[in-house]
Amino acid sequence: MSVAAPAATADAPLIRLRGVTKVYGEGALAFQALRGVDLDIARGEFVAIMGPSGSGKSTAMNLIGCLDRPSAGAYLFQGVHVEALARDERARLRRRFFGFVFQGFNLLARTTAQENVELPLLYRGASAAERHAAAARALDAVGLKGWEHHTPGELSGGQQQRVAIARAIVTEPAVLLADEPTGNLDTQRSVEIMELIARLNRERGITVIMVTHEPDMAAYARRVVRFVDGVVESDRHHAHTAAAAAQEPA
Ligand SMILES: Nc1ncnc2c1ncn2[C@@H]1O[C@H](COP(=O)(O)OP(=O)(O)O)[C@@H](O)[C@H]1O
Ligand SMILES: [Mg+2]
Repeated sequence: MSVAAPAATADAPLIRLRGVTKVYGEGALAFQALRGVDLDIARGEFVAIMGPSGSGKSTAMNLIGCLDRPSAGAYLFQGVHVEALARDERARLRRRFFGFVFQGFNLLARTTAQENVELPLLYRGASAAERHAAAARALDAVGLKGWEHHTPGELSGGQQQRVAIARAIVTEPAVLLADEPTGNLDTQRSVEIMELIARLNRERGITVIMVTHEPDMAAYARRVVRFVDGVVESDRHHAHTAAAAAQEPA
């Protein structure tokens, strides 16, 4: 896609935020959710975003995922100034490069797993046969082979989140944005989802940015960025991750 592939930006980080602010509302009701965020994320990273409720984590995720635009500052994705794009150009970038997973799964009810996962491909002009095959592959990749024709109501929470992850990766995105993906799951199901996300990062090279409140889940990431009051308070790299530990022989 031309908008995302200018020649001069091969060495740019995948994601670069510079002095990014976000103000919601106007006048006396205006609220500054982000107050000048600087953040670089390289291709292939697995980053956990932590911080108190209301610190701007979801706001930052929405900006990074091109769902919204900054009030001021610069957001460069592969060197492209996203803040300067028109709404439809931003939407194209979003559909081409980003997959989203949310705490509440956000699946269509009374719609099968297969159909939920095919949905993002409708925008791509893929044929029905291509959509079907790609969705089946994505469901297989998240361990749901055989569950294609079940609706969300017939699936457990962990299975529903797997469908949501399949829907997020069916377009082969560069970036997976997960906003508290295990927030509605018990510990065992949370660990399974984290193992899955870590595997997608490791084996497919998908850049993962994940908001979580739980240190046990953040431990799967190699880097933890902490937001407080709309700014990045700390940014730490880990040599060892929970996923790596799980792979080592006992
Ligand atoms: N659409 C919105 N309109 C007005 N205020 C908002 C909106 N979205 C978020 N906020 C406010 O911005 C602040 C940051 O929100 P958010 O990014 O959702 O925080 P977090 O995800 O860290 O809990 C909060 O005080 C929240 O109430
Ligand atoms: Mg949030």
